[in-house]
Amino acid sequence: MRITLSVIKADIGGYVGHSESHPDVLAKADECMAKAKGDGLLIDYHVTKCGDDLQLIMVHQEGEESEKIHKLAWDTFIAGTDVAKKLKLYGAGQDLLSDAFSGNVKGMGPGVAEMEIEERKSEPVIIFMADKTSSGAWNMPLYKMFADPFNTIGLVIAPNMHTGFAFEVHDVKESKKITLNTPEEIYDLLVFIGAPSRYAVKAVHSRETEEIAAVSSTQRLSLIAGRYVGKDDPVCIVRTQAQFPAVGEVLEPFASPILVEGWMRGSHMGPLMPVSVPDSTPARFDGPPRVIGLGFQLSGGILIGPRDMFADKSFNLARHQANEMADMMRRHGPFEPHRLPLDEMEYTTMPQVAKKLEGRFIDLD
Ligand code: 13P
Ligand code: 13P
Ligand code: MG
Ligand code: MG
Repeated sequence: MRITLSVIKADIGGYVGHSESHPDVLAKADECMAKAKGDGLLIDYHVTKCGDDLQLIMVHQEGEESEKIHKLAWDTFIAGTDVAKKLKLYGAGQDLLSDAFSGNVKGMGPGVAEMEIEERKSEPVIIFMADKTSSGAWNMPLYKMFADPFNTIGLVIAPNMHTGFAFEVHDVKESKKITLNTPEEIYDLLVFIGAPSRYAVKAVHSRETEEIAAVSSTQRLSLIAGRYVGKDDPVCIVRTQAQFPAVGEVLEPFASPILVEGWMRGSHMGPLMPVSVPDSTPARFDGPPRVIGLGFQLSGGILIGPRDMFADKSFNLARHQANEMADMMRRHGPFEPHRLPLDEMEYTTMPQVAKKLEGRFIDLD
């Protein structure tokens, strides 16, 4: 059976500040999704949140970039924004950068990750969703899952994974893409994806079967809007088991927290902390950045689940380490490397301050 899994998300209002989503907004989204399922447009859906981001997980047979599905998501965000406005939630409609829908939500603010697949005999998938960070945050985890044998032993001992995976990398500033094959081209790949503010892994394919293995959202809100409008808070869909990494291999990268861009005002480096859905409530300095992972078994397009994968106690140490790292980074206050480097500050107050003080800079020679 061919199905499409679409994850479309937007921050349409925070409760309180940027720390959480309001239950009434989630309930409204559920109502919109239930109607679409009743009408036969969706086979199934799951509505959830990661921090202040509303997440619509949808299964259907309309294919990728379907106008009908994108319009459903857009209308759901509009309906949720009405609720958010009534409650005067913070930044109601924050990620809806356009007034009118024009066929596709891409470039309009919401984040999108979609994959059309032939559902396998057993189809376990994990959907990662992050708050207070941006799309490049998946680069290292995806590299570890699909190219690092120290993370994924399947690359070494599973014959159907031994040929490796192909990484589609997007240059989010120049709007270009390149595909690099692992393991032969890992050094070339790392030159680019090691700079996650500019290069983001968009998709991973099995080289053995050419099937899609993972897909992420790569929107950069500030590049769309031309100014800082919140971080892009990305999502990523990963297929697991059989010709893909096992569930535990897919979760393993998050056991060693890394520093990502985001956190307070989207302008800081901070640790990506794996948490359960109820714990995706970034509060300390609006963070630290969070990632949740929901596992589903697909059955004829029905989402069997979710299982809240990071609720597992084995991620306690990672959370502890992330909090220690948060403390260490906070010590730097407004200094780099906690604060983002200059070229990442261009959408903040930096240009205004520089302009105001322009005349007071005196040439040194
Ligand atoms: P089981 O023997 O529990 O099915 O596990 C197999 C496996 O490959 C775990 O990674
Ligand atoms: P969000 O991108 O999650 O809305 O966070 C914005 C922010 O400024 C947090 O301090
Ligand atoms: Mg917000
Ligand atoms: Mg957010």
